[in-house]
Amino acid sequence: MSRVKISKSSSFDFVSDKIASDKSISHRCAMFACLADGESVVRNFLRAEDTLNTLNIVKKLGAQVVDDGEVIKITSHGIQESEDILDCGNAGTGMRLFCGLLASADGHFILTGDEYLKRRPMNRVTKPLRDIGAKLDGRDYGNLAPLSIRGGSLKAFNYKSKIASAQVKSAMILAALHADGECTYSEPELSRDHTERMLKGMGASLHVKNLTTTIEPLKGLLTPLDIRVPADPSSAFFFAVAAAITPNSSTKIIGVTLNKTRIEAFKALEKMGADITYELQDDRYEPIGDITVRYAPLHAITIEDNISWLIDELPALSIAMATAKGESIIKNAKELRVKESDRISTVVDNLRLCGIEVDEFEDGYSVRGGTLQAAKVDSFGDHRIAMSFIIAGLSCGMEVEDIECINTSFPNFFDLLGTITKVTV
Ligand code: S3P
Repeated sequence: MSRVKISKSSSFDFVSDKIASDKSISHRCAMFACLADGESVVRNFLRAEDTLNTLNIVKKLGAQVVDDGEVIKITSHGIQESEDILDCGNAGTGMRLFCGLLASADGHFILTGDEYLKRRPMNRVTKPLRDIGAKLDGRDYGNLAPLSIRGGSLKAFNYKSKIASAQVKSAMILAALHADGECTYSEPELSRDHTERMLKGMGASLHVKNLTTTIEPLKGLLTPLDIRVPADPSSAFFFAVAAAITPNSSTKIIGVTLNKTRIEAFKALEKMGADITYELQDDRYEPIGDITVRYAPLHAITIEDNISWLIDELPALSIAMATAKGESIIKNAKELRVKESDRISTVVDNLRLCGIEVDEFEDGYSVRGGTLQAAKVDSFGDHRIAMSFIIAGLSCGMEVEDIECINTSFPNFFDLLGTITKVTV
């Protein structure tokens, strides 16, 4: 298990077009290529553990994958039964979306994952899928991986989800594509909408009105994808916070998705006082552009709405809250408890080690802004906890243990960080 030491940084102007590609979109590129007839072309695919595991599974499902180091071409004519078990590694998105994709495929499939993924709840997708006829089972009555799926016919459904989760929505939309009639899926708040955008772009008949998506069953295979994956705003956000907490500093991220369901954390940082500009450059499957963040003194904020739009960035935003004037509060964020770690308790424990006063609630926490102090903290095997506390180290120095998990989403994180501070691994 390796650790890293970060030194306090002086001011910097960081500009990058090398931020990790979007994880959500990369997973979907690999999976949705299996629904197309022919060659999908994907540029800037995220070459990190989570998404490479998904790509590997797609190969096992019969797709031909050619990777010239720049462009990945995925040729498929439909899903085939795999002779191996399918290992999603650490990826909750991978496992949950594959449940929906494979529930109607012809064959028997086993999905597994690493020690962390095998502890995460899967009943949020396995239960509604079973309710429409999917033959899906696993440990703890179908809640825990390994999961076994016997693909078969699925009944049309009208499903009202109680949680705003893009993973659940995507699994159900994928299942709906092969159900025996028109389906609807409703959510309490809009969650990230890459699945809807991409499947529509591939020719699926999908209509979104207010918070309800109506899906017509497919008549055949879809049109292949031709896509360039933008930078991941949740990875970019670590460098946004870096600039927001370091006087006289700035960060410019080039080619990031500006989809409103993904950049709410930047909006929150702006409300806290940071100087942020957005420049739209392109709009095909997604609006894509550049985001610039400049340091300004921060003040506290309360976050309680549209939580799914910034759920992944809350650990990093908490570092900004720890340096802001006043008490910040995060509410309605119970979903944090079922991420790669229980992010309410891991953020709270680590901030306390850094000398920050924090109160924990069932659905969030409060952070009293102060001065971060150097500490030795654990990542708990969670990439976003590791990178958030490494960024905290820019203001005070920090030692973070168990950093291999960063490879699940942002393999070149330390190369980029090394341009603004001293990093000792
Ligand atoms: C994701 C959806 C979110 C997010 C995860 C990626 C996706 O999870 O936290 O990192 O790609 O659909 P939920 O849908 O469970 O909120």
